[in-house]
Amino acid sequence: MQTYDWWYDDGRQVGLDFEDETQVATYDARQGGSAERDRQLLGHLGLKPDMTMADIGCGTGILVREAAAMCRAVVGIDVSAAMLAAAKERAGGLGNLSFQRAGFLSFEADEQSLDLITAKNALHHLPDFWKAMAFARMYAALKPGGRLYVRDVMFDVAPQALAQTAEDWIIWLTQNTGYSRAEGAAHIREEYSTFAWAIERMLTDCGFRIVEHVQDGVYGTFLAQRPS
Ligand SMILES: C[S@@+](CC[C@H](N)C(=O)[O-])C[C@H]1O[C@@H](n2cnc3c(N)ncnc32)[C@H](O)[C@@H]1O
Repeated sequence: MQTYDWWYDDGRQVGLDFEDETQVATYDARQGGSAERDRQLLGHLGLKPDMTMADIGCGTGILVREAAAMCRAVVGIDVSAAMLAAAKERAGGLGNLSFQRAGFLSFEADEQSLDLITAKNALHHLPDFWKAMAFARMYAALKPGGRLYVRDVMFDVAPQALAQTAEDWIIWLTQNTGYSRAEGAAHIREEYSTFAWAIERMLTDCGFRIVEHVQDGVYGTFLAQRPS
């Protein structure tokens, strides 16, 4: 990979610190992740036994573990050594599941080598300029016809409604997840969740075709395809 002195250091944690052992140990319970839901998601994304995929920002590895049972090879990628340790423990030495300590701007994959890339609740760690760079890198790593699934907090409201939407979401977080008000507030203040239209424009400018966009309150998902 060509390097520049101005390249963003995507190895550092922004906002919540996922190198913190307590954060990692409590992550699954707070986030409410589910192997069953991830299996269903991977089925919806069309993951097949002959395919190769990567999950970027894989966290504690629930999705990659399920994926390894469904396809040929899976790479779990994350910047956090603590998260990767938890993911490796969960994987229990599955032969077709490997891990890379890297981020969206530093992962290594051969060009046109992957059928599917997933990025769930992780892209908001990058500012928008670097999200676009990340999409371009993911596009290059996908085979023609390959797909990218992105899920994250993204706003789909008029700017006039942003403040109330953010406040409502923080209240919802405190009532429905293990996250505190301070953590929700830090997400809005210090992390880089953006607009759904910005994500869509970045994807299409990279050459992706949008297959699906689902917006569930502040949670947006895009399924995008590199044209064949
Ligand atoms: C909220 S967790 C999501 C984990 C998992 N994908 C899930 O849905 O449960 C965010 C993850 O992104 C990782 N992360 C933070 N910055 C990153 C970056 N620049 N590139 C890749 N992963 C990053 C964090 O270490 C953390 O494991």
